[in-house]
Amino acid sequence: MMKEAEEIKESILKLKKQREAVIIAHNYQLGEVQDIADFVGDSLDLSQKASQTDAKVIVFCGVHFMAETASLLCPDKIILLPDEHAGCPMAEMITAEDLRGKKKDCPEASVVCYINSTAAVKAESDICCTSSNALKVVQTLPEDKPILFVPDRYLGSYVSAQSDRQIQLWPGYCPTHQRILARDILKRKGEYPGAKVVVHPECRSEVVALADQVLGTGGMMKYVRESEDEAFIIGTEIGIIYRLRKENPSKRFIPVSEQAICPNMKLISLEKILWSLEEMIFQITVSDELRDKAKSAVEKMLHVT
Ligand code: 13P
Ligand code: SF4
Repeated sequence: MMKEAEEIKESILKLKKQREAVIIAHNYQLGEVQDIADFVGDSLDLSQKASQTDAKVIVFCGVHFMAETASLLCPDKIILLPDEHAGCPMAEMITAEDLRGKKKDCPEASVVCYINSTAAVKAESDICCTSSNALKVVQTLPEDKPILFVPDRYLGSYVSAQSDRQIQLWPGYCPTHQRILARDILKRKGEYPGAKVVVHPECRSEVVALADQVLGTGGMMKYVRESEDEAFIIGTEIGIIYRLRKENPSKRFIPVSEQAICPNMKLISLEKILWSLEEMIFQITVSDELRDKAKSAVEKMLHVT
């Protein structure tokens, strides 16, 4: 029989202590998962948190590339992903072999890879970036060399427009953000005149063009906290709405599209966190062969940030 939620939470907290574990969760996780986590944040926050914790075990409530990045940065810790199927389709849209082929066509290019990528792709890249630091990362690259940006074409084209740098794009995308359409924004603007439109840079270019702010999930949390506006139309995965409402109870948040759900992020539940801690599964590791190169791309990004 299924345990009651309270009973599950108690068991998680007890086991977390015994295992000397910490639970970290991405902003898109289910509310119940965010509530039990020691820390909730964006991709950059989470990789930094992972590298700073003294815990022996990190229960990573997010998707595979995030747990893999934690493993790169903390080879001595056990990284658990509570559902082995929680992947990121965008990260699978380019393989290391694809990237090696592209580099042959353009050997002089600096390769920037979005953190939503596999360790094998990171190992083929010069530097990583997240949605919050992509522009900064690109601005550090030599101006006399072309840039190849993988795998998200929308983040890449947003950064290209902001930085005035010519960037070659890989045709990857996030299926969840792709579902947010310009007509959805226009509809919401009509329904809530005066509300600020805030979208993630993974959104389509025509959606980004209609926004007041284009921010990663960490940037959204900060912007809303500091803003004097009262209503916000939010164009990203709807899991963030839970945290926005919890931390800003007097403000109003309207998702652009109820369809913007990342099914992979939603695979993690309280039951699976408990199971993960009981069985110490699924342990995410990176092979020694890839580790040094992939880690160097991530560390270069952390240095820039
Ligand atoms: P953030 O780094 O902005 O949290 O984005 C991660 C992600 O997967 C967006 O889809
Ligand atoms: Fe990947 Fe998109 Fe899900 Fe983020 S929201 S984890 S980019 S599929």
